[in-house]
Amino acid sequence: MSAIRLARGYTGRNKILKFEGCYHGHSDSLLVKAGSGLVTFGNTSSAGVPESFVNETIVVSLNNEEAVKQAFAEFKDQIACVIIEPVPANNGLLLQRKEYLQFLREICTENKTLLLFDEVISGFRVGFEGAAGYYKIQPDIITYGKIIGGGLPVGMYGSSKEIMSSISPEGNVYQAGTLSGNPVAMAAGIAQLTECLKKNFYEELESKTKFLIEQIFKNLKSEISNFKIFSVGSIFWIAFTDKGAIRSAEEIDADSMKYFRILHKELLERGVYLGPSGYEVGFVCEAHTKADLEITAKAFGEALQIALK
Ligand SMILES: Cc1ncc(COP(=O)(O)O)c(C=O)c1O
Repeated sequence: MSAIRLARGYTGRNKILKFEGCYHGHSDSLLVKAGSGLVTFGNTSSAGVPESFVNETIVVSLNNEEAVKQAFAEFKDQIACVIIEPVPANNGLLLQRKEYLQFLREICTENKTLLLFDEVISGFRVGFEGAAGYYKIQPDIITYGKIIGGGLPVGMYGSSKEIMSSISPEGNVYQAGTLSGNPVAMAAGIAQLTECLKKNFYEELESKTKFLIEQIFKNLKSEISNFKIFSVGSIFWIAFTDKGAIRSAEEIDADSMKYFRILHKELLERGVYLGPSGYEVGFVCEAHTKADLEITAKAFGEALQIALK
């Protein structure tokens, strides 16, 4: 919400462009074709958001260059920012091609539109520099959450000195909040990030994720063509599909969620708690031991057998 306000204040433009299935929090103008809890319950936009707000939000499909070009042509000099989860992880894990993110970088620069990477999920999960570092693409504004507070409530946005000088009191974009910079959350965040900076932290995290996935496939009684696990860094997503890649929300077969529901229940009975929706991703964390991952993989083997019966 604050990052979008900054983009609008800095550019003097009102419209924003977002992608179908990308979730950016529960502020009004972003609850349009969002993922997360909305997609789980089958309605991807929220009631209670005035139409006039929605009119300022342009929504296009992920992985579609033409749609973005058309939006820029139709709304010339009106788009303040393009906001994207560079690793879209709220509507399944819709891994984007690096070339596509690069294309967004270029079209934004050409149109004096800011590129906003929402790294609330990918930040500190795919590496210490988030997806921006992973793909080596520099956004104009970046947002973080969750991990930077060590799990306590905090959100953050950052940008270049020039763009940030638009923020009050130096500039005229207002920013304040009772809980902004809350000292307990800040202390937890510093403790968390100090852990993340330890040598080989991300290498180990990624190899744990790969180990879990390998073990799950090892525990399958037979090969299953419509079961996949997509992953990047410490993020993974269980998908019941025979596609080799899924890059946009429309490519997900809603009917396949029936398998996830059984899998989720069977795993719960075996002491493994996945997020309660097939559109949610999972995370491997530093605290998981090899034994935890082995137990999880074994439970998967049994639960999948039942889910796909
Ligand atoms: C990518 C992304 N951006 C932003 C948010 C923050 O949302 P909020 O603070 O409104 O819950 C989330 C929350 O899950 C998220 O996944």
